[in-house]
Amino acid sequence: IEKMTVPRLQAMKDSKKLVMLTAYDYTMARLLDPHVDILLVGDTLGCVVQGGETTLGVTLEQMSYHAAMVKQGAQRALVVADLPFGTYQQGASDALEAAITLVKDAKVSAVKLEGGEEVCASIEKISQAGIPVMAHLGLTPQSYHAMGGNKVQGKSSAAAKKLLEDARAVEAAGAFALVLEAIPAELAAEITEALSIPTIGIGAGTDCSGQVLVINDLIGLNQSEAPMRFNKEYCAVRNLIEDAAKTFANEVRAETFPDASYSY
Ligand code: KIV
Ligand code: NA
Repeated sequence: IEKMTVPRLQAMKDSKKLVMLTAYDYTMARLLDPHVDILLVGDTLGCVVQGGETTLGVTLEQMSYHAAMVKQGAQRALVVADLPFGTYQQGASDALEAAITLVKDAKVSAVKLEGGEEVCASIEKISQAGIPVMAHLGLTPQSYHAMGGNKVQGKSSAAAKKLLEDARAVEAAGAFALVLEAIPAELAAEITEALSIPTIGIGAGTDCSGQVLVINDLIGLNQSEAPMRFNKEYCAVRNLIEDAAKTFANEVRAETFPDASYSY
């Protein structure tokens, strides 16, 4: 198998859309690996796995634990892990230390962090250490409280201008790719056009260099109370799980499972 690498991704971006999905464990990583270019161990871990309202509670230790499991299931895809909230907001040396931990302990190939100009020193420091950095702009869930919830970003012309400046800044700082979350499709197209690094959209229209979704949303595993419009549910695995559990419970109570064929 030809392994995905950062240079390969960058070379692909104008000829083929990049495909990224999140994963949080070995089993899911193994299932997704043949079909995606990038497996992101997102800090959505805090929501879809841990049940938190935001991503803010995820620790570096937890991220490292999950990223190692994903890495274990990934043969081909590039494994990228999010730097959790609190590991880089105080500055570039913290950021590099956290990135090094994820590379050493979980063996990830790259890290992702959120923000524009304010995180450029961190992007520079980490990438100069030889660790590729994916940036993330638009709806940045680690700024949940400042944004007043998960809301579409970049709608005013001032906000759009700032996003384009931030996108240019993270590229100049050395980011190898940029996630654009929940921004107008037209703005994402403009940013993608302006940059030479690939953009990966989630709720950012069709003109990004690639697309990402949260796996639990894609397969309808968690029932979200107020899903964002970009969450296309390709199937509803929760129904299969509920049906299986219900049927098992009924059969156990009716004493029809296990019958002879499942016994020794
Ligand atoms: O944490 C995450 O899952 C992410 C993706 C939605 C881009 O950051
Ligand atoms: Na994230």
